[in-house]
Amino acid sequence: MVLLPTLLLTWSSLAYGLSSHAFHALGPQAVKLWRLEKINFTQPLDHFDKTNKFTFSQRFWVNAQFYQPGGPVILLDGGETSGTDRLPYISTGVAAKIANATGGLALVLEHRYYGNSIPVANFSTDSLRWLTNEQAMADSANFMANVNLSAVTGIPGDFTAPKTPYIYYGGSYAGARSAHMKVTYPNLVYGAIASSGVTHAAVNLWEYYDVIRNATPQCSPVFSKAIETVNIALSNKDLNGPVKDMFGLTGLTDADFASVLADVPLGGWQNSNWDPSVGSDSWTPFCEMIAKPPAAPAPQTRVLGNMTVDFGFLNLVNYIQQNFVSRCLRTNQTIADCFSTANDTSLQEDDLSQTWRPWQFQVCTAWGFFMVSPPPAGVPPMVATPITIDYLSEICKQAYPPGEHFKVPPLPNVEDVNRLGGFFIAADRLAIVDGELDPWRPATAHSSYAHLPPRQDTTLRPFKLIPQAVHHYDENGLADQSLEPPQIQDIHNEEIAFVKAWLKDFKPPKH
Ligand SMILES: *[C@@H]1O[C@H](CO)[C@@H](O)[C@H](O)[C@H]1NC(C)=O
Ligand SMILES: *[C@@H]1O[C@H](CO)[C@@H](O)[C@H](O)[C@H]1NC(C)=O
Ligand SMILES: *[C@@H]1O[C@H](CO)[C@@H](O)[C@H](O)[C@H]1NC(C)=O
Ligand SMILES: *[C@@H]1O[C@H](CO)[C@@H](O)[C@H](O)[C@H]1NC(C)=O
Ligand SMILES: *[C@@H]1O[C@H](CO)[C@@H](O)[C@H](O)[C@H]1NC(C)=O
Ligand SMILES: *[C@@H]1O[C@H](CO)[C@@H](O)[C@H](O)[C@H]1NC(C)=O
Ligand SMILES: *[C@@H]1O[C@H](CO)[C@@H](O)[C@H](O)[C@H]1NC(C)=O
Repeated sequence: MVLLPTLLLTWSSLAYGLSSHAFHALGPQAVKLWRLEKINFTQPLDHFDKTNKFTFSQRFWVNAQFYQPGGPVILLDGGETSGTDRLPYISTGVAAKIANATGGLALVLEHRYYGNSIPVANFSTDSLRWLTNEQAMADSANFMANVNLSAVTGIPGDFTAPKTPYIYYGGSYAGARSAHMKVTYPNLVYGAIASSGVTHAAVNLWEYYDVIRNATPQCSPVFSKAIETVNIALSNKDLNGPVKDMFGLTGLTDADFASVLADVPLGGWQNSNWDPSVGSDSWTPFCEMIAKPPAAPAPQTRVLGNMTVDFGFLNLVNYIQQNFVSRCLRTNQTIADCFSTANDTSLQEDDLSQTWRPWQFQVCTAWGFFMVSPPPAGVPPMVATPITIDYLSEICKQAYPPGEHFKVPPLPNVEDVNRLGGFFIAADRLAIVDGELDPWRPATAHSSYAHLPPRQDTTLRPFKLIPQAVHHYDENGLADQSLEPPQIQDIHNEEIAFVKAWLKDFKPPKH
């Protein structure tokens, strides 16, 4: 299996420590905590073509343990992963906290094409054509307007929007969706929180790695220097082969070789969480390791052709050999099997087990976020020069050959996303919450690269940057809030406070 140059937008299910078993272990609370694997909402496959009569089942879960009569619904958007990955957030995380403080129902709504909410028989190009932002937003709107939560919870009442106030929450891609829902369906979404909401889609997101570089000064200069050495070696015909040999990656193209090295920062920093049971940061331990000179008698330098390479470079060689090369060879595959992206046949396997395909399709059609080597002169690179937009977008051509009904565009139509507001997205009762050290921050309204005018942080339009935080750090929460780090307790308290203030103004529409 090829290791895909996947653009992780969220915690990968592997890195993600919590699974649904954490949800089962809730003890007495489970009395009022419905585990709704069986509960589906029927959605049309196509909300805009009424001649298309196909429907599918969208899965959702409700936690009613905090409910008080008259309370709101806190809808947590599942985003680009199985909804089961999000269940902790309605039992102890942000949606549970807001529900607890407001007497609300907390629910997770799974996104079409993810988890069990799969509307199609395979992930071919044609079958993926209903995976658009417009269709997925229309799912949420239809759900809010029509779901019968009374039938599900046994609690009498009408829980549809706009009679019941809905507070829409999402993190990362789902954070962008949360903001998009607020501006697209303002009559259904009473309030929304966009956490690490990547509302500015971009073909080129070189800044992703630059955030990591700036956040980790203890090692990033050593790592950048090693990448610069790789760049020099790759562009020298006498060293191009030897440098790949040194890493044990003989025979790969320059870009596939560079892509293995890019796998170290990619996701490694983003996957961190303040709660070690939820996320794990593989970048920081790597970072400590690469910056450490070897103990004598190990050599501090080696010769590569006519160049001398130092211990930082040698540490990177060791790390790649141990963590990528040896692991690949232990499975009896070749380096090409593991790391070459040349095999279109394997990339075109489109059965439903290829769960990487829906998000990659969204990347290729709408979102982009190709994380390339830095274009500005003088910025130290965290990935090598061959990591270009051409290279990272090649998979869009390889994996999604033109269908009968749909063709993936040469580059994603990011304008379709950005016309909803991009960096400037704003609305009353739309909160924008980001992490100071989030590598996705450059795609949010808190980008420090886009030279944005300052925004006020008000109760009606909260605009909050969590200090020392990475990716949607507020989404996770502990049952005992006092055990959370101070800045996480603070953001949870602020979120509770502004949602309560919003709800004070709620007036149900007159019939
Ligand atoms: C919900 O939908 C899934 C997938 O279509 C199906 O397997 C399951 O039986 C449905 N459950 C109910 C209660 O309808
Ligand atoms: C709900 O809120 C109350 C009051 O702040 C708190 O004491 C309690 O621990 C919370 N319960 C949960 C399950 O978060
Ligand atoms: C994918 O599903 C569609 C619709 O069900 C079907 O027409 C098509 O033949 C399938 N493609 C493959 C490769 O199985
Ligand atoms: C919702 O479900 C309940 C229980 O099944 C039923 O009594 C009620 O009529 C339903 N409400 C609507 C609006 O369909
Ligand atoms: C190494 O050799 C290449 C030509 O093969 C040359 O361009 C480069 O300047 C040399 N580097 C050093 C440090 O001598
Ligand atoms: C790799 O091949 C060796 C020798 O054929 C065999 O003993 C071993 O079980 C294989 N390992 C895996 C992971 O397939
Ligand atoms: C390409 O991938 C296909 C399907 O996974 C596999 O059967 C084939 O052996 C691969 N070809 C090469 C040259 O590795």
